[in-house]
Amino acid sequence: MKDEVREICDRAFEELSYLKSLENRKDQKNQKNLQDLRVKYLGKKGLLTVLLKSLGKLPREDRPAAGKIINEAKARLESAIEDTGRSVKALQEKRVIESRRIDVTLPGFFIPQGRQHPINQVLDEVCEVFTSMGFRVEEGPEVEDNYHNFEALNIPNEHPARDMQDTFYVAGGFVLRTHTSPVQVRVMEREKPPVRVVAPGKVYRCDSDQTHTPMFHQVEGLLVDRNISMADLKGVLEAFVHSIFGSKTPVRLRPSYFPFTEPSAEIDIGCVICGGAGCGVCKKTGWIEILGAGMVNPKVFEFSGYDPEEYTGFAFGLGIERVAMLKYGIDDLRLFFENDIRFLEQF
Ligand code: DAH
Repeated sequence: MKDEVREICDRAFEELSYLKSLENRKDQKNQKNLQDLRVKYLGKKGLLTVLLKSLGKLPREDRPAAGKIINEAKARLESAIEDTGRSVKALQEKRVIESRRIDVTLPGFFIPQGRQHPINQVLDEVCEVFTSMGFRVEEGPEVEDNYHNFEALNIPNEHPARDMQDTFYVAGGFVLRTHTSPVQVRVMEREKPPVRVVAPGKVYRCDSDQTHTPMFHQVEGLLVDRNISMADLKGVLEAFVHSIFGSKTPVRLRPSYFPFTEPSAEIDIGCVICGGAGCGVCKKTGWIEILGAGMVNPKVFEFSGYDPEEYTGFAFGLGIERVAMLKYGIDDLRLFFENDIRFLEQF
């Protein structure tokens, strides 16, 4: 009996150590095999259990000693199986942890950063200069009617600005606004003086070459109150030029013509490229045109219901692309519309 027990135990431990050696080979069935082994030796019909049940066949006086041997063997095998089970489980857990390990020292993902377009930067900057002087920002529709885009601004029917060549017409008698000036009209229709507004936005003209794009940006300005004169216009626009291009930039007013202002002027600044010496950008004149402006034409006031006897005011308009090109020394307008990140990154 003793020999039989030893023989069964030896076989059991041999099988167990074989199972253990499988651990290192990532044998998925290891736990199942351990269970099989337990059933084979310790289960209800297991070899050691069967042996224990057969004790009755032994002579009565031999039974306690034999029982002890079998029970001890069972206990040893039981705890060996448990130990193996634990170490298999620990090993599996370790493998899971290893596989999920994060190396925090690895470089992270590069997330490309966008940035504000230079046109929008300049647009914001221009508006900020005027809001700091008490102007309010107003917006108007890009699809505009004939009345606000032309008529109410004293642009008569036969005026070249109404030519099919310049204006994009939209079905239903509408146009894509050709300038931001109609916002003046809309503000005056809504509000009584005093009025101080700037209107930034997109404008459209049927024109496309080296220096023109079908869409570009303008900022319109309007100031109306009692006793406003050309001196106010000059002071405000000089302050604007100085804060955008530097306080030493020379400014001059040159007589001009716009249907919506009388008198009208164009505002030139000393060429920011050559400093006034004369270059290709200023066409050797030393001056660059930067704004259109003037005193609001009394006819425009009448269209909007303001009394020209009581109120005077000035208006101005400037192109943002032009300001941006001069400010940053950009010589090709198309760069603004290509959205090449290498260009945009520089601002
Ligand atoms: N609307 C003009 C344009 O698009 C710019 C302009 C000139 C606006 C003189 C004004 C102004 O308000 O007084 O070219």
